[in-house]
Amino acid sequence: MHPLSVTLFLVLVSLTVTLDNGLLRTPPMGWMAWERFRCDLDCHDDPENCISEDLFRDMADRMAEDGWKELGYEYIIIDDCWMSMLRDEQGRLQPEPSRFPGGIAKLARYIHDRGLKLGIYADMGTHTCMGFPGTTLEKIEIDAQTFASWGVDYLKFDGCYSNPIEQMLGYPLMSKALNATGRPIAYSCSWPAYLGGLPPNVNYSLLGDICHLWRNYYDIQDSWDSVQGIIEWFSNNQDDLQPAAGPGRWNDPDMLIIGNFGLSVDQAHSQMALWAIMAAPLIMSNDLRNLDNSARAILQNKVAIAINQDPIGVQGRRLLQEKSHIEVYWRPLSQSASCLVFLSRRTDMPHLYHTSLAKLNYEAGNYQAYDVFTGSKLTGLNAKTEFTVSINPSGVVMWYVYPEQRTLHSQHNKPEPEHHIVL
Ligand code: GLA
Repeated sequence: MHPLSVTLFLVLVSLTVTLDNGLLRTPPMGWMAWERFRCDLDCHDDPENCISEDLFRDMADRMAEDGWKELGYEYIIIDDCWMSMLRDEQGRLQPEPSRFPGGIAKLARYIHDRGLKLGIYADMGTHTCMGFPGTTLEKIEIDAQTFASWGVDYLKFDGCYSNPIEQMLGYPLMSKALNATGRPIAYSCSWPAYLGGLPPNVNYSLLGDICHLWRNYYDIQDSWDSVQGIIEWFSNNQDDLQPAAGPGRWNDPDMLIIGNFGLSVDQAHSQMALWAIMAAPLIMSNDLRNLDNSARAILQNKVAIAINQDPIGVQGRRLLQEKSHIEVYWRPLSQSASCLVFLSRRTDMPHLYHTSLAKLNYEAGNYQAYDVFTGSKLTGLNAKTEFTVSINPSGVVMWYVYPEQRTLHSQHNKPEPEHHIVL
């Protein structure tokens, strides 16, 4: 396409498409199959773990019965490998019948009956990343209609096997097609991940207008290396990424892998803390049927969740990288509160880090701090008070900080949404 027509197209699209349908004012929370269960098709030898309706029903049961739903975890999201290799006679996608004998509409009812929501996966290209049927441009409308008719509440739209021109046409078109169904469907776009994740290749203001969230970077794997690499990339590029986020528009550093095989307890704290700082989706990919107590406690930590879900929806930033390999992260929250995370990238022993709130740009005054993972409270903390935190290797100390005298209104005198964190 000629560059001028590309620009013209983008202008037209941004004039005609907005996806401000009130969904995802805070980052989505839920569960997705991919990182933990991949493309396991072997229901014969591995019936418990293969991609089948049983797996999603099991996870819906756990989510509804084990306290997840009450905490806000609500989406159960099917990833790749659910489809039959063939579309039906009407050209519609259909699930592989041996693994989804009841069909997706019935699975959606099962999930809705438990007060949860269903997400599904498709790909803006000739094939999905694992080689199942893709949603090429001419199929976008029919696929959106099919998903809506099944009662789908969330679409992850991947970008394998497509080129940048097709993506530029397809992602906005799918947004329009989802809107046109009349069903509120949250829309997760993998588009930026296929363009290197950064401007000028990625236009974050357009993305925010057409998608509720978007993958920017590589897939997460079950290792601390992978989590660390993601944190690093998002922080190194925070000047481009942080302003793109806000209510209804979120950066997605990918799934929570807490409860799997790759993270120590400290590293699991670190993922939860940094995902809260980044206002990231809290979408777990683990086996909810087999979680140990420490993973469960971290994922169900109410204050960490409340920080992630803060209603003003401002993404946090890395404030400091010390030579000692300690990093400090900060996120402003409603009601003049904030979150501080001290992350250690050291590999030796717990490190004593000395600082004060004033050194971390806090205004003069008295504050209280609540340690999110130990539950201890610090009162009478003056901005100038020097304090010391002990941070484990590859672990964090995570604080919820609030002024001793809470002001009811923000500095701009605008009332803020109610959001009580009960300590
Ligand atoms: C891509 C996506 C992953 C997952 C796989 C499925 O790699 O980034 O999140 O959906 O495809 O094939």
